[in-house]
Amino acid sequence: MKIIKTKSELQTLVNQLKNSGKTIGLVPTMGALHNGHLQLIKRCANENDVCIVSIFVNPTQFNDKNDLEKYPRTLEADAKLLEQNHCFAVFAPEVDEIYDKEELTSVFEFDFGGLDKVMEGKYRPGHFNGVVQIVGKLFELSTPDRAYFGEKDFQQLAIIRHLVATKKYPLEIIGCPIVREESGLALSSRNALLNADEKLTATNIYKTLKESVKLQKSVKETINWVVTKLNNIDGLRVEYFEIVNGKTLQSIDNWDDADYIVGCITVFCGTVRLIDNIQYK
Ligand code: PAJ
Repeated sequence: MKIIKTKSELQTLVNQLKNSGKTIGLVPTMGALHNGHLQLIKRCANENDVCIVSIFVNPTQFNDKNDLEKYPRTLEADAKLLEQNHCFAVFAPEVDEIYDKEELTSVFEFDFGGLDKVMEGKYRPGHFNGVVQIVGKLFELSTPDRAYFGEKDFQQLAIIRHLVATKKYPLEIIGCPIVREESGLALSSRNALLNADEKLTATNIYKTLKESVKLQKSVKETINWVVTKLNNIDGLRVEYFEIVNGKTLQSIDNWDDADYIVGCITVFCGTVRLIDNIQYK
């Protein structure tokens, strides 16, 4: 497996692959790889001649400096895992290989068509500007045939689809289901920041979402039920819970308002911010 640090090495490799008629799959990540990432990587390796994984803790998508600093970085262990999972090359650049000073101090402009005004976008201003900035660069550098993203980051996936449609990138976006621990907790690199008690407490998030699907209540009552139930658990604090049209991400008022309905939640477990979602319809 090749470990690539520079854009020019990546472009040379991609040109060679394209010239020999190989299809390329890309899995963008920020590293600290877990089984959720690995499912994307396995699928990518299966569906393409070569799988390229990027590992880059992207500073422009962190609106909290502290969060960026404490984000887990485990490149050596990640490389071992990738080697065992049929990854052809890892692109793991340093920050100054990707951004110049100006890009690091300004907000990347992009028309999200309103997709950034809700949920994560509301609570993490500028977050998705950084996400589309890096993902656009990765698409342009590696020109993949397919790129793989998890449904765990539901809003991110919708925004990436919008990015591809807007910029007319000639590639297919593949959304992959959420991978969970046996306890139901959605796998996340941030789970490494939870202590044993917090990890147990965090299992209530998915448990509660699952129970809420069975409730025969209105949308508003369902939201209140979930938020109250989770906020009553010591150590949990709901930042937002919204039930939205899965395509437009706009809140719905009634269960008949859309054919595809998803509940998206962010909960602080201690100081660790966890996200999850569930499909209602
Ligand atoms: P990261 O959080 O490392 O996630 C990389 C990819 O793995 C994302 O597409 C995410 O949705 C997916 N993923 C994470 N946990 C998952 C789980 N439990 N089940 C299924 N998929 C899961 O998301 C990012 O990085 C960044 O924003 C990035 C797109 C790389 C841009 O910097």
